[in-house]
Amino acid sequence: MNPNDGYQKIIAKSPAILEQIEIIERVAKTDSSVLILGESGVGKEVFAGLIHSGSRRAGAPFIKVNCAALPEGLLESELFGHVKGAFTNAVSNRQGRFEMADGGTILLDEIGDIPLPLQAKILRVIQERKFEKVGSDITVTVDVRIIAATNKDIEELVQTGKFRADLYYRLNVFPIFIPPLRRRPEDIPELARFFLDNYARQGQKEFEGFTEDALSALISYSWPGNVRELQNCIERACVIGRNKLVGKEDLFMKQGDFAGTDGQIPGRNLKKAVNVFKANFIRKVLEENGWNQTEAARVLAIQRTYLSKLIRELGI
Ligand SMILES: Nc1ncnc2c1ncn2[C@@H]1O[C@H](COP(=O)(O)OP(=O)(O)OP(=O)(O)O)[C@@H](O)[C@H]1O
Ligand SMILES: [Mg+2]
Repeated sequence: MNPNDGYQKIIAKSPAILEQIEIIERVAKTDSSVLILGESGVGKEVFAGLIHSGSRRAGAPFIKVNCAALPEGLLESELFGHVKGAFTNAVSNRQGRFEMADGGTILLDEIGDIPLPLQAKILRVIQERKFEKVGSDITVTVDVRIIAATNKDIEELVQTGKFRADLYYRLNVFPIFIPPLRRRPEDIPELARFFLDNYARQGQKEFEGFTEDALSALISYSWPGNVRELQNCIERACVIGRNKLVGKEDLFMKQGDFAGTDGQIPGRNLKKAVNVFKANFIRKVLEENGWNQTEAARVLAIQRTYLSKLIRELGI
């Protein structure tokens, strides 16, 4: 499977992403549920598209649902459909997204935001491929491959009772973790170039590339908004840039938010120095344990929830 047979071109240079693509190529051919994890903007939707396009279902629909966008009642009818008269505004029968995806794939985006009662209904679809529309007792059977995605710490949601453990285990058969952009700097120049060419084409301006200064600024920035933030940054640079080479002055990034992954201690501020040490130390233990937070927390002898907090706070 060529990663670029999908709906959009996927840029992949870093070993971390190439490894995930290799796993995706294998899992795409099966009917297993897949759980895609990663921070906001890392490309979870793009990789879900790659799973669908590499599967036997490629010719059938690929339906996406943002589970965080709707309140519980509306989400239920969006997912499963309803029959006329099921509730006040149900003036006609409505097909749900699961039915629309029959034969194909459904992407349940922001799965961590699904209310508990709907989690039970989704679990049944995974186990039996069966459900009832809202207001109906006729059972509908569908043939759908389920991909779920979230930027939440889903293990923590399970531990705090906000996400059903049985649903988590069902979805977690194939977890795919898309690392944040700051942990795969090799992808930054490639992605930047790709977005530059795209926007240059649209804006009918000619750009030859980036100055060295601009490139090193792009590489050392921490990209809290990941690929989406990089894309926006390059779009702005294309609009305001006047030279053939995009310069550092054309890029707008949050000041001072640099990754510091090289272990350099900035200045002589003790708290900052301790944080750099902590971040590097924790990152190393996480790497040694395949980014399994439960295992890394055990090795570090701290609570898992505290580790998640440190990862967020230190931008690991
Ligand atoms: N490897 C990549 N190659 C090309 N474009 C990419 C890549 N990764 C992400 N993008 C682009 O970055 C943007 C964000 O990606 P996407 O929407 O898939 O992220 P996400 O993880 O689903 O974000 P969120 O958690 O906010 O929903 C999109 O415009 C997508 O096309
Ligand atoms: Mg998304």
